[in-house]
Amino acid sequence: MDNRLQGKTVIITGAAGGIGEVLSEKLAECGMNIVLTGRRKEALEAVAEKVEQMGGRACVCAGDLSDMNFLEELLERTQAAFGGVDVLINNAGLSHRCPVEEMTPELFESIMKVNVQAPYFLCQKAVPYLRKSNFATIINIGSVVSHKGYPLQSVYAASKHALLGFSKSLANEVFKENIRVHVISPGSVFTDMIASVRPDLSPEGMILPEDMAEIVIFYLEHRHTNAVIDEIEVHRVTKEPFA
Ligand SMILES: NC(=O)c1ccc[n+]([C@@H]2O[C@H](COP(=O)([O-])OP(=O)(O)OC[C@H]3O[C@@H](n4cnc5c(N)ncnc54)[C@H](OP(=O)(O)O)[C@@H]3O)[C@@H](O)[C@H]2O)c1
Repeated sequence: MDNRLQGKTVIITGAAGGIGEVLSEKLAECGMNIVLTGRRKEALEAVAEKVEQMGGRACVCAGDLSDMNFLEELLERTQAAFGGVDVLINNAGLSHRCPVEEMTPELFESIMKVNVQAPYFLCQKAVPYLRKSNFATIINIGSVVSHKGYPLQSVYAASKHALLGFSKSLANEVFKENIRVHVISPGSVFTDMIASVRPDLSPEGMILPEDMAEIVIFYLEHRHTNAVIDEIEVHRVTKEPFA
């Protein structure tokens, strides 16, 4: 089978660690041009080096996703580096564990900016570029909390519910232009984030970042088919199914 991913350009937010880092490496193995973004420039450069060592092409664009000017810059730099955008993966996210009564307006705003405002406006700014691609795909990384309301995760849950609602609406706005919008909603993934949000959980049986990358690759390898899966909900192997 042809490698349909070869030479396509993907922007990955939150690429310096966790799911985004593994995603960057695995999509580079598929021959994609990788635009890595996040705040930690050195960590992004280390990932870019790994991508380049495996023969891939990477462009580091460090910045803060809560800065609206940076979102525009990210698209412009991607265009300059690789001549277009085929795939946008909104993976960056912030979580916080505390009772509702302890949440501050400042923390609320910072989480909403990264988890909702940034994907919203990155999608808005990416659409004109995606219209020029025959592979146009947006993948938003949601969470099990896009559907559920666990205690002590109120702002995180509110933000992921909002991201899902936005994704549904956007998907309906752009599907006739051959732009696909998907959501992946995982339970606990073995990264630094889960250790801070669910310190009670054992790492055993958690979803691995590599598993997340396989799901993304599945979406992209099936980009040409007439069968479209809007959202994939994923739970860890140690959690009861259909819960
Ligand atoms: N781990 C889980 O159990 C789990 C479960 C369900 C869903 N998810 C979702 O999966 C995605 C990836 O999470 P992860 O587990 O890989 O967490 P992670 O390791 O903490 O990665 C999150 C990334 O977001 C980036 N980020 C945060 N604030 C940013 C900002 N203001 N500007 C730019 N980048 C920013 C961070 O990069 P910098 O520090 O370099 O800025 C970091 O690389 C998130 O959307 C998360 O909600 C995770």
